[in-house]
Amino acid sequence: MKTINIGIIGGGLMGREAASSFGRWFALNDFPAQVALKAVCDLNPQVLEWYKNISSVDLLTADYKELLQRDDIDVVYVALPHNLHKDFYIEVLEAGKDLLAEKPFGIDLEAALAIRDKGEALGRFVRCSSEMPFLPGPQRVIEEVKSGRMGEIIEIKAGFLHSSDIDPNKPINWKRQVKYCGEIGVMGDLGMHVLHVPLRLGWKPELVYANLQKIVEQRPDGKGGMAVCDTWNNATLNTQVTIDGKQVPMLLEMKRIAPGETNTWYIEIFGTKGGVKYSTKDTKALWTFRIDGDQYWQRTDLGFKGVPFPVITGGIFEPGFADCFMQMLAGYVAEREGFLNGRFGCVTPDEAVASHYVFDAALKSFANQTVEKIVYNQTQPA
Ligand SMILES: NC(=O)c1ccc[n+]([C@@H]2O[C@H](COP(=O)([O-])OP(=O)(O)OC[C@H]3O[C@@H](n4cnc5c(N)ncnc54)[C@H](O)[C@@H]3O)[C@@H](O)[C@H]2O)c1
Repeated sequence: MKTINIGIIGGGLMGREAASSFGRWFALNDFPAQVALKAVCDLNPQVLEWYKNISSVDLLTADYKELLQRDDIDVVYVALPHNLHKDFYIEVLEAGKDLLAEKPFGIDLEAALAIRDKGEALGRFVRCSSEMPFLPGPQRVIEEVKSGRMGEIIEIKAGFLHSSDIDPNKPINWKRQVKYCGEIGVMGDLGMHVLHVPLRLGWKPELVYANLQKIVEQRPDGKGGMAVCDTWNNATLNTQVTIDGKQVPMLLEMKRIAPGETNTWYIEIFGTKGGVKYSTKDTKALWTFRIDGDQYWQRTDLGFKGVPFPVITGGIFEPGFADCFMQMLAGYVAEREGFLNGRFGCVTPDEAVASHYVFDAALKSFANQTVEKIVYNQTQPA
């Protein structure tokens, strides 16, 4: 069986998550390709230390060029702060490697376009991370929409809600500073996750009116002082899409300060004959709507059944973050190797670029207090 050798640049929170998925690849049932994590690059020696637990890793380095020089590495997963995406992603591609990028796929629209264009020009396989839609619930939502059972779709709501910034005493880090995280702030952190399913269903926002909020504007700097926290904490985007020739409102929420929420990804789609709702807050519950004289919301208890890539885990057991992350990596490998076979795949470069057009227009909308028209497919940002 073919083995795909992986390198990771940026071994922090997400690097470790990826390593953990690669390490239990055997949980995938009858998956026709193996993976081996071979090399990890991080500037922080303590971060690298953790990877000594992984027997397949034979290079731990602070110099990413050393990793890229390795002929045996096929794919590089890059999980770095957003200000580094463009240069690192492009260098990975130029080194002849395929890329699994982290969102937001560049710090801004200009970076996203440059990465996409470089991947296309060099003919590399490039996809971007967004794992939540690989859970059985979102997969059933997509199935419900495609079934046509909902009649005319009249409203869409999708969001990703955290409370990770609700504590004002939490010290500053790169995710709370524009120079590292980007002007788009929380949209860069959570927006790709929110847009992945709508974009895959062909719902590309045409108009946006944005509410952006800076709620905690300074935080402890970890050295006894305070530091400016200049990113947007919360973004509420009122957008509009066209479905079957009709204009439909689509509300997109991305919030780092959402009281009571830890990592809640949700989507709700309402039609004239049916509806569907799913939230990771209640991981097993799929809600579908039907009209039969009375109007019913019906709860279906989901288990593991319905993940795109079958695993050894029992069908009634409930999935979590680590599971959907592994499913996403399986989706990347399956698509790269040509056996995705119609199953759900990772965010494409075009989808990542489309998300940046939305965020870019949202910034303009809030700055000018206007409804912005979103124009896609420009080669350069307006
Ligand atoms: N898919 C998801 O659910 C998800 C969740 C969180 C973060 N992310 C994304 O993953 C990426 C990384 O976020 P994170 O939370 O893992 O961040 P992190 O801060 O935990 O990890 C980043 C790592 O990069 C290392 N690093 C920084 N500069 C470097 C350089 N020049 N060379 C080598 N290593 C360097 C740091 O030492 C750190 O260990 C971001 O794009 C972020 O948006 C995705």
